Amino acid sequence: MRSAVVYQIYPRSFQDSDGDGVGDLAGIRSRLDHLTWLGVDALWMSPIYPSPNADFGYDVADYTAVDPVYGDLAEFDGLVEEAHARGLQVLMDIVPCHTSIEHPWFRDHPDWYIWADRPNNWVSAFGGSVWEPRDGRYYLHSFYPEQPDLDWRNPEPVAAMQEVLRFWLERGADGYRVDAIDRLLKDPQLRDDPPASEPFGLPLREDEAKLALSNSRNAPDTGAALAKIREACGDAFLVGEVYLPSARWQPYSDYFDAVFAFELLHSTWDARLLRAAIEACVRQPGAAWVMSNHDFGRLSTRFGAENARAAAMLLLTLPGPAFLYQGDEIGQGEGPPGEARFDRAGRDRHRHPMQWEASPQGGFTAGEPWLPLVDPRRRNVTDQRDDPASMLSLVRELIALRREFCDGFELLESADGVVAFRRGDHTVAINTTSEPLPVELGDEPRIQTRDGVMRDGTLAPHAGAIALD
Ligand code: GLC
Repeated sequence: MRSAVVYQIYPRSFQDSDGDGVGDLAGIRSRLDHLTWLGVDALWMSPIYPSPNADFGYDVADYTAVDPVYGDLAEFDGLVEEAHARGLQVLMDIVPCHTSIEHPWFRDHPDWYIWADRPNNWVSAFGGSVWEPRDGRYYLHSFYPEQPDLDWRNPEPVAAMQEVLRFWLERGADGYRVDAIDRLLKDPQLRDDPPASEPFGLPLREDEAKLALSNSRNAPDTGAALAKIREACGDAFLVGEVYLPSARWQPYSDYFDAVFAFELLHSTWDARLLRAAIEACVRQPGAAWVMSNHDFGRLSTRFGAENARAAAMLLLTLPGPAFLYQGDEIGQGEGPPGEARFDRAGRDRHRHPMQWEASPQGGFTAGEPWLPLVDPRRRNVTDQRDDPASMLSLVRELIALRREFCDGFELLESADGVVAFRRGDHTVAINTTSEPLPVELGDEPRIQTRDGVMRDGTLAPHAGAIALD
């Protein structure tokens, strides 16, 4: 998995098999061809556990079952078996920091959660206090109030979570994407977060940015809790969703195989900033590259539709695992800004169904899709598969080429506006601007974002190219 391409499936929106308008496991299984054709190494499924959906699966009500809307354990087993038969690994999404408020643990073991008599100044990821009143006390929720945080200083929930981790691995899962892990351990005395004295290094909500966030997360003894996760998982692959700049990845990188490089995801499409993000992250062990996902949006919206191909080229040529969000291989568009039909934090627009074909339902469902399709006529897998000049064909070529890269990585000096680096005997150059720029690549690149982007030593605007020595 050191240089795997991991395909992120958002199960609600990938493929519906039974016409209820929501994707499911049988649907995923029926589309494995797409993944093997694309050439990815693994798939990661956002949570499939029973959930009241306050946070669409990230509020888990039962960690060892499949939500009936997605199928059941037998279907999970079938999916894993077929994925493995095709050489694809399967990563689950585990949410150790908090459960759903409807998880029986919250009722039966309130002491497994974090309580206070009085709120402190900690703020939740979605705004407002982390404290919610209940029976004369307050429980802590780092995310929505429907997501109470488990107390990882109490050995009982830790043991319960270790059992959960073993459960899916024993069923054949190959590892986990570990959710919101920087929130796992907090200051045991629940001391206020002091005022911020320096920038955090990644975008924050306005109320979070005022605080140093040194007590509400990332407690100094986090390593001990991570060791428990690692202990339960043996050598299974673990990638952490750690919302920290790379300089602070330890101890997460000590216990996990990989850590998402949020500096790159949050960079704007500016060569100087992209280089700085890459340079910072490659220096740390375990950088896993991600430029889009179900929380922050799609490649084409984050970096501009005109740059989507070059962004895919960058994502798929950096050293270390790369995470590709479903739909980004066809440059799928997003829902309208401000859309908030289901998710209070406004993330519906990043989660619209996969566009398999040009029909109004996009081949996603025979029923009424839970979120409408965005632009299936303009962009869909079927049309792009037959078109050697499509973004889909480019992504597939990039994934195939990646296998030829050796481990090495070296950023190259380049014109302002260009990101260029070497991977062994391959040189990658990306023009982030709307002007042609000089690059040293030769006029016959091996792969280019569009035909003819290299001419007379210049790389076309918004383009990328890869040459072999
Ligand atoms: C992660 C998930 C996000 C979820 C949050 C709380 O950031 O990616 O979707 O809302 O954790 O579990």
